[in-house]
Amino acid sequence: MKQMPVTFDQLDLNADLLSTGEERLEATALPSLQGDVPIPGDKSMSHRALILGGLATGTTIMHGLLESEDVLRTAEAVAAFGPVVERLGAGHWTVTGTDWQSPAEPIDCGNSGTTARLMIGAAAGFPLEASFIGDASLSRRPMARILEPLRQMGAKAYGETLPLTVRGGQLRRISHFNANASAQVKSALLLAGLNAKGGVEIIEPVASRDHGETMLRAFGCDVRAVDGAVSLAGSCRLTAATVHIPGDPSSAAFPLVAALISPGSVVTVRSVMINPLRAGLFDTLREMGARIEIAPCGQLGGEAVADISVCHGALRGIEVPANRAPSMIDEYPILSVAAAFASGRTVLHGLGELRFKECDRLAAIVAGLRACGIDASEDGDSLVIIGAGGPPAGGGSVEAHGDHRIAMSFLVLGLASRRPVTVDSAGSIATSFPGFAALMRTIGGRIA
Ligand code: S3P
Repeated sequence: MKQMPVTFDQLDLNADLLSTGEERLEATALPSLQGDVPIPGDKSMSHRALILGGLATGTTIMHGLLESEDVLRTAEAVAAFGPVVERLGAGHWTVTGTDWQSPAEPIDCGNSGTTARLMIGAAAGFPLEASFIGDASLSRRPMARILEPLRQMGAKAYGETLPLTVRGGQLRRISHFNANASAQVKSALLLAGLNAKGGVEIIEPVASRDHGETMLRAFGCDVRAVDGAVSLAGSCRLTAATVHIPGDPSSAAFPLVAALISPGSVVTVRSVMINPLRAGLFDTLREMGARIEIAPCGQLGGEAVADISVCHGALRGIEVPANRAPSMIDEYPILSVAAAFASGRTVLHGLGELRFKECDRLAAIVAGLRACGIDASEDGDSLVIIGAGGPPAGGGSVEAHGDHRIAMSFLVLGLASRRPVTVDSAGSIATSFPGFAALMRTIGGRIA
């Protein structure tokens, strides 16, 4: 029986929460934020590196792997199918691939949609049976978007949401229209397609993040991307690679927006990935008047990286088109906080997918902003925020619904609003950004 030396229970991901186990954190306005912030590894790339390593021949070496709850769920899940996963040091992991076999126990994906969708796709390519379970939030999230195309490819799937069981093997080629522009769907089908006769094709209405394609190529697979159609030929043997994972732009967004809205602040985040399919927030903040300097500093893991500096400045409300959503899908909670400080009206279009994230983010953003004295409303799939043109009242007690990005966004709001903001379920922050509160404290943030 192969075992990982470290399981996610053994890493103290909530070290920055109060030792009482209190899940409530309070953020209070500060004089200013100053300094450099190291940003943890990209979550999307970390999941993919572990999974591709588990499918490849040889030993894949990873540096800068994000050690967050979601990614550790993927590490455990990969190991449960037979590959050997080892942690050599902080962010330094190896995985030795093998043909996957039926796991002894159901795969617990915790809160992680990426773990569930990508692992189901990868498992479907092998003649095995596996069950997948998750927490209450994940068990509510839609899986039909991957199960329907996987069934068309020939996989058997029992259940429509978690818990569900998949029986894989003997897959055939399909061409799938990725209606929601979901990178998870695209990657799940590419992973299944590796072992499908004739491969797979995915057609996208708007391009979603392409880390899966870039990394597959680094592992020796010929993935084509032509005119919105992404495809691979099937029967691909992957070869182990060394993967360096750059900082996650979705995590960098929190200290950057905190600096933008806190008078006198100047903050730099280092070695952050700036793939254009992830950079919608930076374009949007610039349209709002933000001063953001992006200094490219080479490549890591096949992705362009940069040091990004921002300083505080006035923001103005704008209208953001729906077709930008895939390039900033995880950034709407923190963008909404920036909009609350802007002068005038911000309208964010095309946010239907936010209802299917870790919680109904559209509803959680509106409720949180209102609790902090900000005029916000849903209008169909759009979000309308009337900015305060400076610090809003704050003082709210915000329900994060166990959603890491809602929790971090409203703590950032509290760092610059007139009265402190408290957030519940702050333990969820370890899902993507363990050490967030401690890191914000190092640049002057008051979060306790
Ligand atoms: C992700 C894709 C996005 C994003 C999620 C990570 C990925 O989800 O919200 O946090 O790694 O592929 P969708 O594919 O549902 O848009």
